[in-house]
Amino acid sequence: MKREIPITKAGRLLNSGCVTLVTSANETKRNVLTVAWQSPVSHTPLLVSIAVAKTHYSHELISESGEFVINIPSVSMLESVHQVGSLSGRNGDKFDKSGLTVTTSNTVKPVTIQECIGHLECVVEQAVSAGDHTLFISRVTHASADDEFFDLAKSVWNVMGEEFLLHHLGGTFYTGTTTLYKI
Ligand SMILES: Cc1cc2nc3c(=O)[nH]c(=O)nc-3n(C[C@H](O)[C@H](O)[C@H](O)COP(=O)(O)O)c2cc1C
Repeated sequence: MKREIPITKAGRLLNSGCVTLVTSANETKRNVLTVAWQSPVSHTPLLVSIAVAKTHYSHELISESGEFVINIPSVSMLESVHQVGSLSGRNGDKFDKSGLTVTTSNTVKPVTIQECIGHLECVVEQAVSAGDHTLFISRVTHASADDEFFDLAKSVWNVMGEEFLLHHLGGTFYTGTTTLYKI
């Protein structure tokens, strides 16, 4: 039986994108937050979009600098993912609190998270207001991925039955990618 879902909960029908850790920075501060609401929006040039709540500290930093890095964690990073998605960088450095290791990025100032298996360095082209969030539509200036997980020849995540890409179902519920289907 199909049941009506309250509009206030209906976002959860779609809310299963691969979870990401987005890093940002200004001249003196750095930050990281968890972002599930991300999507590619153009092939050529490659543009991606992230939706960031206007109240978040990351919103302030991304608006100020116009740059961020989308880091893709694996399931093994679930605890860190939930932690940096539950604390605000306004109350202290989340890299110190979570123990995540960072390195310099190639084309932008925000750092790359070493434990993650993929990275997209992004420069904001358009900031579109969308209710209580802003869509930062951004050009990808550099990308890299761990070849143990990403098949470069096929340009596809190499899903081999082990859970590795993390998806957010809402609240404290997550699931992992386990199966690759090919037709
Ligand atoms: C799994 C998960 C997914 C999240 N996805 C988003 C998102 O897509 N956009 C967003 O603005 N906040 C999202 N959040 C909430 C922020 O990560 C969280 O509020 C964070 O503490 C904001 O940090 P900041 O104030 O340091 O920027 C998510 C949180 C979790 C745990």
